Amino acid sequence: MGKLLEVKDLAVSFQTYFGEVEAVRGVSFHVDKGETVALVGESGCGKSVTANSIMQLLPMPPAFYKNGQILFEGEDIVKKSDKEMQKIRGNKISMIFQDPMTSLNPTMKIGKQIIEGILKHQKLSRHEAKKKAIEMLELVSVPQPEKRINQYPHEFSGGMRQRVMIALAMVSNPELLIADEPTTALDVTVQAQILDLMKQIQDKLGTAIILITHDLGVVADISDRVIVMYAGKIMEEGTTDEIFKNPKHPYTRKLLGSVPRLDMDRNESLHSIEGTPPDLYRPPKGCPFFDRCDKAMVICKDHMPNKEYHSDSHYSYCWLNHPMAKAADEGSEI
Ligand SMILES: Nc1ncnc2c1ncn2[C@@H]1O[C@H](COP(=O)(O)OP(=O)(O)OP(=O)(O)O)[C@@H](O)[C@H]1O
Ligand SMILES: [Mg+2]
Repeated sequence: MGKLLEVKDLAVSFQTYFGEVEAVRGVSFHVDKGETVALVGESGCGKSVTANSIMQLLPMPPAFYKNGQILFEGEDIVKKSDKEMQKIRGNKISMIFQDPMTSLNPTMKIGKQIIEGILKHQKLSRHEAKKKAIEMLELVSVPQPEKRINQYPHEFSGGMRQRVMIALAMVSNPELLIADEPTTALDVTVQAQILDLMKQIQDKLGTAIILITHDLGVVADISDRVIVMYAGKIMEEGTTDEIFKNPKHPYTRKLLGSVPRLDMDRNESLHSIEGTPPDLYRPPKGCPFFDRCDKAMVICKDHMPNKEYHSDSHYSYCWLNHPMAKAADEGSEI
């Protein structure tokens, strides 16, 4: 399968009153046609900035591209004008966000919003667009769509609103759907239903998906590959199987929280990694996870590890994985 999106050494910063925030610091990854790639990591690690860079949705200033390329179908998005970007955004690439209420217009009926979305992308009569809007609601399993199109967003439940958002994102039949924490605001059962729905739509329409979440638990069933980010950098990437069965970075292990290890703390869980991510005003020179890592070595503090491959599809940035790091399993004193 061909590469749909290729992000190469992307660096994005914000110029603030207090100085430069280095939000994304040299991130490279790709997305193939029709696959699902999960972007995971704790709050503030640069997931949304990466996604919004792809969509060119960052406010510039204060944001600015420092380096890198974002190739979509071989063309660099970073270099596109606003006008060119309008043709791509919401058309070839669509995005859904955590809170549908902020994206849906509360004063407009659901049907009208979808119809307008359809008319923006396709030359159809209003009548045809209405028929299509009903079909779209059926696609995302909203019951009684003929009736529902006459209702307002506040008459929908959170899960149903998110389904509407997915329908809206899919009206243009995009090549790539970026879903930024699409289920975080929903309860667990509805979360699973929405992810399941996204998978079904992908199977039907062949859309590639970037799924952004801080919760590794939700990506296992839906994603083909997982990219783990921390402090604006990628720490590890692999197939979902590789990341879950054979995580190589201590941060990934902590995120997983359930990989059996002899030295594992009983209370260690998905959301309780001790300490906080580093300040991105002055990011550390070495491995950014250094001060929270219980396996940290002297070198980690000042030197960023190289990329170490564990298979064709699996790599990590950690000194423990250096071929000469004998102490890999024992760790060593700082
Ligand atoms: N407009 C802004 N001005 C200054 N700094 C910003 C701005 N937007 C984001 N940042 C900073 O960029 C970094 C990355 O933020 P980002 O929103 O990408 O995190 P995230 O991984 O999406 O987190 P979350 O899981 O909380 O959504 C953070 O340190 C954040 O404070
Ligand atoms: Mg975010």
